[in-house]
Amino acid sequence: MSTSYRIAPSILSADFARLGEEVAQVIAAGADWIHFDVMDNHYVPNLTFGPMICQAIKPHARTPDGRPVPLDVHMMVQPVDALAQAFAQAGADLISFHPDASPHAHRSVQAIKAAGCQAGLVFNPAAPLDVLDWLIDDIDLVLVMSVNPGFGGQSFIDSALRKTEQVRRRIDASGKDIRLEVDGGIKAGNIRRVADAGADTFVAGSAIFGQKDYAAVIAEMRRELLK
Ligand code: DX5
Ligand code: ZN
Repeated sequence: MSTSYRIAPSILSADFARLGEEVAQVIAAGADWIHFDVMDNHYVPNLTFGPMICQAIKPHARTPDGRPVPLDVHMMVQPVDALAQAFAQAGADLISFHPDASPHAHRSVQAIKAAGCQAGLVFNPAAPLDVLDWLIDDIDLVLVMSVNPGFGGQSFIDSALRKTEQVRRRIDASGKDIRLEVDGGIKAGNIRRVADAGADTFVAGSAIFGQKDYAAVIAEMRRELLK
């Protein structure tokens, strides 16, 4: 399994009045990806931001020495395809969607890839993994939800560890280079357990943006991952 871990701060918990600055700061603090939570008040009971905000933060998603940092767009929207297209044009690097929000998940994956982005499938805490068997050859990322989507700051749901183990087995059996990301309730205190279950990419919103010193939190997470 891959041990090149990625930490993906979710800007859902950032200060929206200073979003560009927050993105630049969390990257300077060591973020590998920027996780961008799109909510439509339909698929989930909350409303966040769309392609215009994605486009606005794109120039800020760079390391201090100018290397681009991937924008990891997590779409909690229904329907999927038209908006995915808009996010691709707005500078998204990876686009993930919930297969239960698309009547034709295979078509949605193809549309994301045709638009030049990497494609991911997201599985809610109570969602089965069946779709994965039919799409594993086509995707770049699996995102396991360890909270119900819609809000930051919720508690980690332990059954997500079992699901992560199952996804890890399927990815390894496929022999493909697919990232396994877990999202929700992750902090320094549990990140090691999530990695042990097979994750290589970790979303953290409130755990990072809820603290003053982003670099200290990210460094603590990396120390846990080294154990
Ligand atoms: C929830 C979002 C998460 C959220 C995670 O619907 O998908 O990315 O921002 O926030 P924390 O880390 O606070 O649970
Ligand atoms: Zn998310």
